[in-house]
Amino acid sequence: MSDYICGNISAEGGKLFFGGHDTTHLAEKYGTPLYVYDEQRIRHNCRIYRHAMSEYLPRGSFPLYAGKAACFRALYRIMSEENMGVDVVSSGEIYTAFSAGFDMRNAFFHGNCKTDEDIAYAMECGVGYFVVDNRDELFAVNREAERKNIKQKILLRLTPGVDPHTYSAVNTGCVDSKFGNAIETGQASEITRDALALDFVTLCGFHCHVGSQVFGEDVFERAAEIMLRFIAETETKIGYHAEILNLGGGFGVRYIESDPDIDIDNKIKTLGIHISLCSKKLGIIAPRIILEPGRSIVADAGMTLYTVGSVKKIPGYKNYVAIDGGMTDNPRFALYGSRYTCLEAGMTGREHDMKCDLVGRCCESGDIIAKDIYLSSSVKRGDLIAVFTTGAYNYSMASNYNRLLIPAVVMINGQKDYIAVKRQTYADLAGNDM
Ligand code: LLP
Repeated sequence: MSDYICGNISAEGGKLFFGGHDTTHLAEKYGTPLYVYDEQRIRHNCRIYRHAMSEYLPRGSFPLYAGKAACFRALYRIMSEENMGVDVVSSGEIYTAFSAGFDMRNAFFHGNCKTDEDIAYAMECGVGYFVVDNRDELFAVNREAERKNIKQKILLRLTPGVDPHTYSAVNTGCVDSKFGNAIETGQASEITRDALALDFVTLCGFHCHVGSQVFGEDVFERAAEIMLRFIAETETKIGYHAEILNLGGGFGVRYIESDPDIDIDNKIKTLGIHISLCSKKLGIIAPRIILEPGRSIVADAGMTLYTVGSVKKIPGYKNYVAIDGGMTDNPRFALYGSRYTCLEAGMTGREHDMKCDLVGRCCESGDIIAKDIYLSSSVKRGDLIAVFTTGAYNYSMASNYNRLLIPAVVMINGQKDYIAVKRQTYADLAGNDM
């Protein structure tokens, strides 16, 4: 392989290095399967957003990290130090951020079905903004704020009707989405009027999120334009000026060589130009822009290490390389048919002459990490396999199916390595069983 997808991956003496660390040493020290995160890379990705957003977007614009991509305390400490806001989607994410000492005034609470308990808990933790998804929620938030005698800041989630052309499970911007209030049907205007009439919420602006793993050229520009037009109309019709426009997350990342390598700085620059042109044309003051990236902050900062358990060659049919993890630590092939770059971490120089499927250890044929990849025909039990770009939506989507343990998360930072999340134990697994 000519390059290693991301600048923090290299090879030396046949060993794979990640963030300057020999992955074979990490596997020996911490065992496999193992999630490894490169803290410097996470910080680097955050800084790209922060810098570009303050440089090219209206004054006061800033990024949020979408914790759904990977959620554990160490990440919130990093986000705090990097001056990032966060997007949280559940009481569990709020608890994790809050208990990590994150300043919850910089948290935005998402979700299309917040319970009364979620709403009350979020307010108790001092969550800065609720991104209100629907009218039921709007009234529930207002009721709880009244009970607590506070004025809760909110944004309203709208659906701009933009198709980002990504895979359907993560496509959220269309009119028929389960998320948000469609502009096209008039429901966006309706909920805006409702929000403005309530006493215990303060409407600060609008939100939309069109999808994830988006590579489309002008998807964000189109969404921004529709949202700005809505803001201009709302100003004319109701006299309400939105101070904030949150355009969601979604920039795509490079999993395999043929994926584009998005230049986030440049994307934000283009978006900024478009936003100021549109605002001028519409005669409005450009709102502060929020972006809420998850994947593009953590995906390429993560790697998973596995040990090969068996190699099965079925002559005339196909080859399987089975590893000590699987869909429980990475369900993305099973869910979306996602593709990954994989390599033998202890023997990077080997020729990749064997087509195979990299499969897991679950009792399901769909338990696949990567299909039709090439590894060496001499790969054998005990060899170490690295799967690249697993920092987003792997740990956060892990399960205990087949009572498999969720792997440890190890952070590397310069010369240091430390455990961010301990490996689950069998006692943890059965901990709630009576
Ligand atoms: N904001 C909202 C409202 C979202 O729903 C999402 C992702 C994000 C921000 C962050 O998007 P990102 O920058 O990470 O693309 N499990 C799927 C991805 C689901 C995305 C859900 N929402 C996967 O593994 O591909």
